[in-house]
Amino acid sequence: MERVYGVANRKGGQGKSTTVSTLARLCAIQGARVLVVDLAQPGSTTTSFRDLWPEAEHEDFSRCLLAFRGLEAGHAPEPRAVREALTACGLPVVLTSYPSWGGGFVAILPHDDLLGEAAAYVPSDLLLAGLLAALAREIDLVLIDAPTDGGPLLANALAATGRVILPLVPEASALEGADATLRLLARARQGGLPISLGGILLTRCEPKSKRAAEIVRTLAQSGEVEGEPLHRKLLPFAVRQSEFYEQAGRYGVPVWERTDDAQHWSAYALLAEWVLRDAGLERLMTEPRLQARLDPTTRVLYSAALGMGRPEIEYRDYLAAHAPVSA
Ligand SMILES: Nc1ncnc2c1ncn2[C@@H]1O[C@H](COP(=O)(O)OP(=O)(O)OP(=O)(O)O)[C@@H](O)[C@H]1O
Ligand SMILES: [Mg+2]
Repeated sequence: MERVYGVANRKGGQGKSTTVSTLARLCAIQGARVLVVDLAQPGSTTTSFRDLWPEAEHEDFSRCLLAFRGLEAGHAPEPRAVREALTACGLPVVLTSYPSWGGGFVAILPHDDLLGEAAAYVPSDLLLAGLLAALAREIDLVLIDAPTDGGPLLANALAATGRVILPLVPEASALEGADATLRLLARARQGGLPISLGGILLTRCEPKSKRAAEIVRTLAQSGEVEGEPLHRKLLPFAVRQSEFYEQAGRYGVPVWERTDDAQHWSAYALLAEWVLRDAGLERLMTEPRLQARLDPTTRVLYSAALGMGRPEIEYRDYLAAHAPVSA
């Protein structure tokens, strides 16, 4: 069972922040207590939650990290010290939730511009892992928006992450970003970290794009790359290119505030289900709710059929092909 998911790609602009914020909301709607850790410049994930931001004041997360300047390399912080430091800073910020979410919520360790510098002052890369361990009892699921650049912040993110979700825009240079990310994971494993690739999520997909079809074919024929069986890691659903995501980002609201049509976020509803099951939280999926519930006729973009005649299928047909196996 994994609990800490890193959404990572060494190449920018691949839909990391959109994935983290949409996935966090959908998991919370299903009743999960989700912690988002926004380590990625320029903090798009943090600002994407504007509609849920509470009145309460908080200190910068970087300031909280600086409280651990004396933490020796290779050491994790004491849980009690973590709780004191977080409480003193008013962190994590617990976002507004709704009764219909059945006890689920999103809390966030928000981005600020000094995070990278602050992490560089702390000799240990195990600080974030220690922070998350200290919060384990209050949180079901952690989603980290990992930085694209190397450095102590990325090292902390890798040391805290169990499973990686790799979002990928199917365009010419996408595979370079994927390769660089896979190399990074392989190096982390060589260094003793138990981190693995969970799935590759195609984002910003044009259903009929030839390029998308080529990339799917390349991934399907890749076999093992850097110790990961890539052909088995491509998620069967893909996120369509949709102007509503840009609008949602601009207004700091979820995509379903911009459109009623669930085909725009059906892949994220399926990703939420995948993550909750992978995290051992299938009990939360017995009754999909609100935006996490797809109608039988909602259209799903089917990765394997991208670039072909009919890359979109109805959810009921998707289910017939991919009924989740219960534990
Ligand atoms: N499915 C989509 N359809 C259309 N636009 C999208 C989609 N997903 C994300 N976008 C837009 O693409 C841009 C990049 O997405 P996002 O910020 O999520 O990527 P990122 O990987 O976090 O980028 P960065 O490297 O800047 O952190 C944003 O303007 C976002 O609104
Ligand atoms: Mg981002």
